[in-house]
Amino acid sequence: KILILDFGSQTTQLIARRIREQKVYCEIHPFSTPLETIKEMNPTGIILSGGPRSVYDADAPLSDPGLFELDLPILGICYGAQLMMQQLGGKVENADKREFGKANLTVQFTEGLFAGLETGVPQHQVWMSHGDRIEVVAEGFETTAVSDHSPCAALRHRSKPFVAVQFHPEVVHTLIGTDVLRNFIFGICNCSPNWTMASFIESTVKGVQEKVGDNKVICALSGGVDSSVTAALVHKAIGDQLTCIYVDNGLMRTGESESILRFFREKSQLNVIAVDAVDFFLNELADVLDPEIKRKRIGLGFIKIFEEEAAKLGEVDFLAQGTLYPDVIESVSFMGEAPIKSHHNVGGLPEIMKLDLIEPLRELFKDEVRELGLELGLPEEAIYRQPFPGPGLGIRIMGEVNRERLNIVRQADVIVLEEMKKSGWYRKVWQSFAVLLPIQTVGVMGDGRTYENVIALRSVDSRDAMTADWSKIPYDLLGVISTRIINEVRGVNRVVFDISSKPPSTIEWE
Ligand code: XMP
Repeated sequence: KILILDFGSQTTQLIARRIREQKVYCEIHPFSTPLETIKEMNPTGIILSGGPRSVYDADAPLSDPGLFELDLPILGICYGAQLMMQQLGGKVENADKREFGKANLTVQFTEGLFAGLETGVPQHQVWMSHGDRIEVVAEGFETTAVSDHSPCAALRHRSKPFVAVQFHPEVVHTLIGTDVLRNFIFGICNCSPNWTMASFIESTVKGVQEKVGDNKVICALSGGVDSSVTAALVHKAIGDQLTCIYVDNGLMRTGESESILRFFREKSQLNVIAVDAVDFFLNELADVLDPEIKRKRIGLGFIKIFEEEAAKLGEVDFLAQGTLYPDVIESVSFMGEAPIKSHHNVGGLPEIMKLDLIEPLRELFKDEVRELGLELGLPEEAIYRQPFPGPGLGIRIMGEVNRERLNIVRQADVIVLEEMKKSGWYRKVWQSFAVLLPIQTVGVMGDGRTYENVIALRSVDSRDAMTADWSKIPYDLLGVISTRIINEVRGVNRVVFDISSKPPSTIEWE
């Protein structure tokens, strides 16, 4: 496997994606991972990621210099390249000409990283993002490519398997990016492309069996992709030792609870306990207007109900959870920031209930989870379901949450989804949904004046929910959705479309 050491770049995860696309397994770990731990991981090669700092800063993140004594192939990218130079005796300085965006790369050697690429002219398009540049090359290294503003846009060691690039091979705008990464992992590291879903299932099933033994496992099923795939995978490993608990909080979309439960009960042999906690949650939310209080009450309420149900099962030792790789990386990131919204998931459960965690998806990205779900036989409808927030419709009703307002937002939401699916837009966007606003506006229906609710339509494009842009849905489709909502949903006389991006807005309204 390939080990990626993270120095805080926005694109570190992309490096991992690109490498796994080549069917080579890789992991991201913080730059500060001790040398001993790295040795234990026994990687085939190491990649030093980019990062926002300057290597000459007093508090710059540094790798253990022992890294370069391990006799392993190392690729430095951007900050990683500069760090390699600095730590091996070269010099990095602030450049008077910074390079951001597209740059033209002239390759000088076609061996190693640039095997198979043309040298000289024509130049290759690469993507740069740096304010510092390598001024003095460390001893033993030579320049292998230049760009307009980087006399050392790529380097290699003459006798050791150390290579470095100033540009970012992991981004799509670097047209030769895949070639460069392939040359590193296959040419320089000699990896084999043998990481597949089938091999992942096999090794994970074995791992879960060994860890769990004869003990019992519980899992919170939400109906989302992650928890469904987790449940299916753990069930494959240990069968009846797994019990799933589904908490109906009354904040789900129309028919969602039913379809999830039907699938798991009829199509799989999974043990599912469904808890009807609708009254409890509506009671908790009565008169609550503040979004954060809503989120906290829903989150704590979930933990309370889940704990009560789990207690009925007797001795349980493990909690299976659908943590994905991006969550894992975020939680180890050294540039931790305060959360914008308190996200609700089962995060607090293991500590409170003193359970050991089983997280079979913690090495996977979302699209890999989908692929895995299909391989495990889950229905496409469940696999390609758009993300749905833990607090559910509770945070899509601005102001007070009650049965009447839930009813309105549900009906509007059904129409949005129906029309998005019918037109083929459902899978093109990241999320699309209705939000019920806390205001009323004047309208005219028939000959009479109305004074009713407003529905906001939100649809965004995103790759990872960290950033998002509003979807450019055709006007005709917007028109159909608006007309249907106003005609079919009692109590709504106006529909507006949200045209804000994230940042500065967020995807959900609360
Ligand atoms: P925001 O609104 O923060 O949402 O831009 C980003 C993504 O996260 C989803 N979301 C949640 N998911 N628990 C979840 O599991 C939550 O509490 C939660 N809040 C927001 C949101 O739907 C979007 O995909």
